[in-house]
Amino acid sequence: MIGRLNHVAIAVRDLAAAAASYRSTLGADVSEPIDQPEHGVRVIFVNLPNAKIELLEPLGPDSPIARFLDKNADGGMHHVCYEVDDIIAARDRLRLAGARIIGSGEPKIGAHGKPVLFLHPKDFQGTLVELEQA
Ligand code: CO
Repeated sequence: MIGRLNHVAIAVRDLAAAAASYRSTLGADVSEPIDQPEHGVRVIFVNLPNAKIELLEPLGPDSPIARFLDKNADGGMHHVCYEVDDIIAARDRLRLAGARIIGSGEPKIGAHGKPVLFLHPKDFQGTLVELEQA
């Protein structure tokens, strides 16, 4: 059911420092910061040939990334995102299999303007999984 790896998201305390590290030290193609208030994040995309890295900084104290950084002081991997052809079919199949969908279960529009859902980390080896409609 899942297809390509779309991105790996990394929570960071200092987005400018993280961007500089990817741009200068790793030599990557790094976007400008983009605010996504509906998700409580400011994001920078690192464009790799086969996938993206999303560097996520909290936008406001209620950000889920702020809570993540409370538990992971140095930042770290926050989620992985896999593409699916049909997000509603994927959701229904996962529900039947007993997997927990985070939130209402209705897809939200994600960082790339496409519908996304998040799956509970306890059902997937301790890793938060995002599904994005391809
Ligand atoms: Co994501």
